[in-house]
Amino acid sequence: MRFIVLTLFKEMFIPFVETSIIKRAIEKGICSIETIDIRDFTEDKHNRVDFPPYGGGSGMVISAEPLSKAIDYALDKLKDDLKETKILYMSPRGRVLNYNISKELSASDCNYIIICGHYEGIDERIIEEYNVEELSIGDYVLTGGELASQVVMDSIIRLLPGAITEGSLDEESHTNGLLEYPQYTKPYDFRGRLVPDVLISGHHKNIAEYRKQESIRITKKFRPDLLDK
Ligand code: ADE
Repeated sequence: MRFIVLTLFKEMFIPFVETSIIKRAIEKGICSIETIDIRDFTEDKHNRVDFPPYGGGSGMVISAEPLSKAIDYALDKLKDDLKETKILYMSPRGRVLNYNISKELSASDCNYIIICGHYEGIDERIIEEYNVEELSIGDYVLTGGELASQVVMDSIIRLLPGAITEGSLDEESHTNGLLEYPQYTKPYDFRGRLVPDVLISGHHKNIAEYRKQESIRITKKFRPDLLDK
């Protein structure tokens, strides 16, 4: 799966692609992440990509001219790939990401161009022209789409086959509509707090039942809304 990210802040992606599971997924060829600077496509003599909004108001809007050229460039790079290309725009207006959406995006076996806005966003005509899907990571406003795009890519990539040890996805939070049960590791005694007996009993059926009950208890406590669904 290929990701091409269009941004004004490429440097924000350096630690993302050089760390942990994402780094390993890239090394294993499971995915690739390329960043393209929208500013490279401006023809403005002062190198500007954003201008005040028509109709007035505060903030700046990224112009359709450099952005469309950046999108066309990215589309051209992907044109010989057999996979379909989808264009996403990170925006607080979009469909709000959750586990099911991450699964859907991960399973759709396509390549993604991800547009990161900054300031007041991008010219609306880009969204119409390129049939862009808007995606939000929550009901709050970030200064730009860069962090949001990393959240989206992370949640997609970890679900790609081979990115994470088989099995570790099976029981994590949200996979079965519940939050994950509490986890314990060495030492057995931490400041007088002991690991629950059942977990050291070696009795797999009891452990599974205990974990299921704990999952329900934790979900009731932190996210009762999930139990209503
Ligand atoms: N850009 C600014 N705020 C955002 C949000 N909540 N989700 C995705 N992209 C954004």
